[in-house]
Amino acid sequence: MSVLRVFTRNMATAAKINNVVVIGGGLMGSGIAQVAAATGHNVTIVEMNDQLVGKALGGIKKSLERVAKKQFKDDAAKGQQYVDGTLSKLKGSTKLEEAVASTDLVVEAIVEKMNIKHELFSKIDAAAPASTIFTSNTSSLSIAEIGAVTKRQDRFGGLHFFNPVPMMKLLEVIRTEKTSEETYQQLMEFGRSSANVHHLQGHARIRGEPAARAVHGRGDPSARAGRRQRAGH
Ligand SMILES: NC(=O)c1ccc[n+]([C@@H]2O[C@H](COP(=O)([O-])OP(=O)(O)OC[C@H]3O[C@@H](n4cnc5c(N)ncnc54)[C@H](O)[C@@H]3O)[C@@H](O)[C@H]2O)c1
Repeated sequence: MSVLRVFTRNMATAAKINNVVVIGGGLMGSGIAQVAAATGHNVTIVEMNDQLVGKALGGIKKSLERVAKKQFKDDAAKGQQYVDGTLSKLKGSTKLEEAVASTDLVVEAIVEKMNIKHELFSKIDAAAPASTIFTSNTSSLSIAEIGAVTKRQDRFGGLHFFNPVPMMKLLEVIRTEKTSEETYQQLMEFGRSSANVHHLQGHARIRGEPAARAVHGRGDPSARAGRRQRAGH
């Protein structure tokens, strides 16, 4: 079977991602939740307590208002519609297990510490449906190592967004040796569905290298462009 036919078949069978849980509503998690909701996904942000949930949702509202002012400067009503419509797709929660119990995709954006990420993924592996795809937004840790604590390494990958997420036109989709083709296609499709704000870059078979090293070591022109534009990582 030709590569194109395999690709087309995978695209046809890959289930669409509608419901997204973002764990960690800090700098990156808020941005990821914002772009996912703005592109029509139902998004839940999970944080440690109600105050942090409120802070994340409040920050997103402000950011959306800034975007609306720029994008709809001649039509305030349309701008308000954009803000309200996006906010209606977003909610916050402190109940981790409950939030992941009915989601298609989890994007983890908590502190950059392997043991804390392991603790989190072990917990949600037991609570989420078998079909749920797990991803990490880590900048420097190995995606394969993070996913190793789960029983769904075929449904585990990396979605590496850049800061500031609503502005950056780059998203890296990272697969490990164990990520299935179907999962990879679903993640690519999720990236494409946010295409109004992101260009997409797929890394096939990165063999468990830390995402940052895998990307920066390959000399890909779009990765270099992304690195030049980035403020932080
Ligand atoms: N900051 C960047 O420029 C950047 C860029 C790309 C990727 N990343 C990656 O994104 C991830 C998050 O980075 P950040 O800069 O957004 O950090 P941050 O400190 O701004 O946010 C982390 C958030 O996670 C929350 N949190 C921690 N443990 C949690 C748990 N168990 N459950 C729910 N929430 C929890 C914290 O309360 C905090 O609000 C890291 O893995 C980092 O490597 C960061």
